[in-house]
This record gives sequence, structure tokens and C-alpha cells, in this order.
Amino acid sequence: MGMEYTPEQRKVIEERGKNLLVSAAAGSGKTAVLTERIVQMISDETNPVDIDRLLVVTFTNAAAAEMRERIGRAIEARLEIYGENEHLQKQSTLIHNAQITTIDSFCMYVIRNNFNEIGLDPGFRVADEGELKLLK
Ligand SMILES: Nc1ncnc2c1ncn2[C@@H]1O[C@H](COP(=O)(O)OP(=O)(O)OP(=O)(O)O)[C@@H](O)[C@H]1O
Ligand SMILES: [Mg+2]
Repeated sequence: MGMEYTPEQRKVIEERGKNLLVSAAAGSGKTAVLTERIVQMISDETNPVDIDRLLVVTFTNAAAAEMRERIGRAIEARLEIYGENEHLQKQSTLIHNAQITTIDSFCMYVIRNNFNEIGLDPGFRVADEGELKLLK
């Protein structure tokens, strides 16, 4: 909040209704822009979405934790200004169950919640590398 975004960053934050691929240098503000984009979507006045209706995936656990932390902080910052906004208050609760996770964890979540549909043994688990070597 309060950051002066560049025109390119603002475009990424505000574009809606199409797929976007953003490629930018290390430390150039990708996470900042994605965080702001998400916060604007959940605090949109005409069409606000709930944070737990979004899927935010990263490659590493560390990146997912950083994302959740930054979105959480941005919501808290907005709440300091719009404290009486009930939708925003709800988001600071919903964020704890939001799908802000690694691709691996998300895939596991999908399989775990649908194992019956694909005829998978509910006791399934991911093998570790040693086991995989033996199996091969
Ligand atoms: N327009 C801007 N004005 C001032 N500071 C900015 C701006 N954009 C980003 N920053 C700051 O730059 C720093 C790096 O931003 P951020 O972590 O979002 O980059 P990143 O591209 O995600 O980095 P990485 O490649 O390491 O993941 C942060 O402190 C962020 O607040
Ligand atoms: Mg980043």
C-alpha cells in the first residue's frame, strides 16, 4: 500500500478477463504486483471475490508462505483504513483456509479429495526417492 507502481506494473495489476503471463527480472516486483492484484480483486467494490475462491500456486513452500504472509499483511493494512468493511473483515479470516500453496500440494489436495472418482486406493501416498528406485 502506498507504493508508486510503474505504468507496466499497474497494467499487470489492473488487467482483467484474459490470461496474463508476466516475466520480469529477480527483485523487480513480481510478488508485489501479484499481491496487489489479488488484494484489488478481493476488495473490488462492484464484484468482490472471496480469497478462498482463488487458487494461488507457487513452486516452493517458501514462496507460498511469503505469498500468504504478504496478502495477509495487505488485507490488514486495508482494514486499518476500511475497518468497518465486512467483506474485508471476512477475508482476514478466510485467508487461513485459502488455496495459496505449491503446485505439488494443490495436486495432492485434488487427488485426496477425489480418489473415489479415479478408483485410487484411499491409503495412497507419495513414495520417497529410495522407494521409487527400488520399484523401478
Ligand atoms: N514500483 C515500486 N516502487 C518501489 N518499490 C517497489 C516497486 N515494485 C517493487 N518494489 C519493491 O521491490 C522489492 C522486491 O519486490 P518483490 O519481492 O515483489 O520482487 P520479485 O520480482 O517478486 O522478486 P523475486 O524475483 O526475488 O521473487 C520489494 O521490497 C518491493 O516492495
Ligand atoms: Mg517474488
